[in-house]
Amino acid sequence: MTQVSTDHLDGVLDHIIDMWSAAVRNRHSPLHTPTVCSVSGDAPAPRIMVLRAVEGPCATFRFHTDVRSSKALQIDAAGPVAILGYDPDARVQLIVRGVGRIERSGDIVDRAWETSALSSRRCYLAAHPPGTQTPEATSGLPEALLNRSPTAPESEAGRENFCVLLVDAVELEWLKLTSCGNQRALFQRSGNGWTGNWITP
Ligand SMILES: Cc1cc2nc3c(=O)[nH]c(=O)nc-3n(C[C@H](O)[C@H](O)[C@H](O)COP(=O)(O)O)c2cc1C
Repeated sequence: MTQVSTDHLDGVLDHIIDMWSAAVRNRHSPLHTPTVCSVSGDAPAPRIMVLRAVEGPCATFRFHTDVRSSKALQIDAAGPVAILGYDPDARVQLIVRGVGRIERSGDIVDRAWETSALSSRRCYLAAHPPGTQTPEATSGLPEALLNRSPTAPESEAGRENFCVLLVDAVELEWLKLTSCGNQRALFQRSGNGWTGNWITP
């Protein structure tokens, strides 16, 4: 990650963009698996997801999921979504608030499926939707695939359950913990860029 000064709002924004971008590539980063929170009726619905891509300067965040899952049904075409992570080394909490959309077809989805590892594609071969009640503990996967990844042809049956969650960010929040007083900033989307303000922690 490049060194950025967080004395100024421009530096804070660079820091936010840098941290999220680096998290996509670095699976050891705690921000690689943020909490993604949707809304179920009037209740929050959080879960951990793998961050797959961040396009533009934190404009769009991409995740992969099962189209039959609760989150896909909750978010659908334009559901509110928050993305939350904390990097304990940097002592920074990041929050993204935005509008989510579930995509089942198109170039982004085709490419995401094509570049998914066979071990990842296996998740989409479960016979029943995520969240289905079962009489005993089960992965839901076909017996033959419990101890191995599917072959490429076997994995293709999972394509119809695969979808992409895209979150268009409208707000970016940054909270830095320091021993001499915390700092917090909020950026709001304005056109293709961001307008920021300091806010009290
Ligand atoms: C480290 C980790 C990574 C995960 N990554 C994903 C993911 O990328 N996509 C996904 O749909 N679920 C992922 N999950 C599972 C979700 O947290 C969640 O249990 C599942 O998707 C069902 O969520 P829902 O019923 O709220 O839709 C992950 C869980 C963990 C612990």
